Amino acid sequence: SQRFSIVVVGDGAVGKSAMTLRFLRDQFHDEYDPTIEDSYCKHVEVDGQEYTLDITDTAGQEEYRGHWNDKFMRAGDGFICVYSIASMGSFQELVGFRNQIWRAKESEEVPIVIAANKSDLEQEREVESATGEEFAKLSNAFYIETSAKTGFNINEMMIELVREIVRS
Ligand code: GTP
Ligand code: MG
Repeated sequence: SQRFSIVVVGDGAVGKSAMTLRFLRDQFHDEYDPTIEDSYCKHVEVDGQEYTLDITDTAGQEEYRGHWNDKFMRAGDGFICVYSIASMGSFQELVGFRNQIWRAKESEEVPIVIAANKSDLEQEREVESATGEEFAKLSNAFYIETSAKTGFNINEMMIELVREIVRS
């Protein structure tokens, strides 16, 4: 089967690891343990085709972000750019991550999904859906609201990214 490298980026504590864990094992933990860098592998079927996904869960916390992120980005076939709907700051950080991806790939036509995570925290929302959608459009990316906590749209997010990679 075809093998794709997927890189998950975004600010600290937005839920990158929680989304990865939900996708891989359908589990969720309430505790927060900042990531240094983790890699996983999963076989999936999308539109009747088998794919092997190598998923890199990167560090969002400034102190753990490293020059190695650039290496992952160059090797990435597709990217999940995550922010939390309950944190305007995490949304504002996303433009930097997107630019880093575009620079690493030397292109502005890169398969990217913008994941607006923590959609279960509607009463704490700081970023409107329209704001996220607009940014996705400007980034030539697919926009989706997710919740690692409830599992909402986590599989869909990965399916859309695989479709984008296949189309690219
Ligand atoms: P770094 O590894 O530091 O970059 O953070 P991260 O983006 O991997 O965040 P992580 O997945 O560790 O989640 C941070 C905190 O948010 C944890 O306490 C999670 O339980 C919580 N969390 C993650 N996703 C969700 C979600 O969809 N909804 C809610 N309510 N909480 C979430
Ligand atoms: Mg993490």
